[in-house]
Amino acid sequence: MLISKLESVLDGDEMEVRQEIYDAFVDALSLSKCGDGPPQSSYKTYYYNQDPLTLYEDQTTISKGTTGLVTWISAQSMARDIYNPDTKLHKHLASASKVLELGAGCGLVSMVVSKLFNSTVYATDVDENVLQRLERNVNLNNLSTRVVGLDWFNDRDVVTNIIPDVVVAADVVYDDYLFSPLLTILQECLRMNHQCKIYIRGVIRNERTYQKFISMLREDIKHDINIMQIKNECTQIRNPASNNRPNEDMYEVLIG
Ligand SMILES: C[S@@+](CC[C@H](N)C(=O)[O-])C[C@H]1O[C@@H](n2cnc3c(N)ncnc32)[C@H](O)[C@@H]1O
Repeated sequence: MLISKLESVLDGDEMEVRQEIYDAFVDALSLSKCGDGPPQSSYKTYYYNQDPLTLYEDQTTISKGTTGLVTWISAQSMARDIYNPDTKLHKHLASASKVLELGAGCGLVSMVVSKLFNSTVYATDVDENVLQRLERNVNLNNLSTRVVGLDWFNDRDVVTNIIPDVVVAADVVYDDYLFSPLLTILQECLRMNHQCKIYIRGVIRNERTYQKFISMLREDIKHDINIMQIKNECTQIRNPASNNRPNEDMYEVLIG
């Protein structure tokens, strides 16, 4: 509209709109926030004990073909418990020297661990865009978290080399086809270090999927398995574009 109006005004004078004006207009349109496109990525600051961590993340649960560009509610709940010195999770992490996060997404959990403890923290994921986002968030907060590519289907050797003391994973139980490779990774962690503690936290969105994971876990893992229901006390504002619902049933599996 704006360009055609300009053209009609200039038409009588036999003048043209300069190319630079077209270019600037097209650039401005692509930056516009008021289109019908998906919500923009933004910086979000999380506070635990008034300690801020800022993450660059998306606002939709799936973007660029991955679920890892937004922070899920299980990660927020886990981060909160890591800050609480009375939790087992905090205690295990406090005495760990190597911590591995599987399916780290935007990196909240790994970064909280890096912030609080002296351990070497490996934030891993499979997706290229997620790994770039992780790197960006780690740098943004000046942390030493190591960002590493780890595909549960192919990269068992990454675990063999790291030999973690504690493994954390938030919201990684959502698709049956991932269970078997994920369990292979967990078995490798336990094979390399019999004392390894593994914490998996998630939301029960589909009872059948959850039960299937638990029964495969009991079948494949010969170490102690404890399952707890977690009260979700994350008081986040409901984002209408997100799947994160404040009162969903949440569980934590502790292996080892
Ligand atoms: C629902 S998101 C959870 C992200 C983050 N843990 C959180 O709670 O905010 C699941 C994550 O698992 C990762 N993932 C999916 N398949 C994977 C695989 N085969 N190997 C490694 N990571 C995988 C995804 O890239 C994504 O980051």
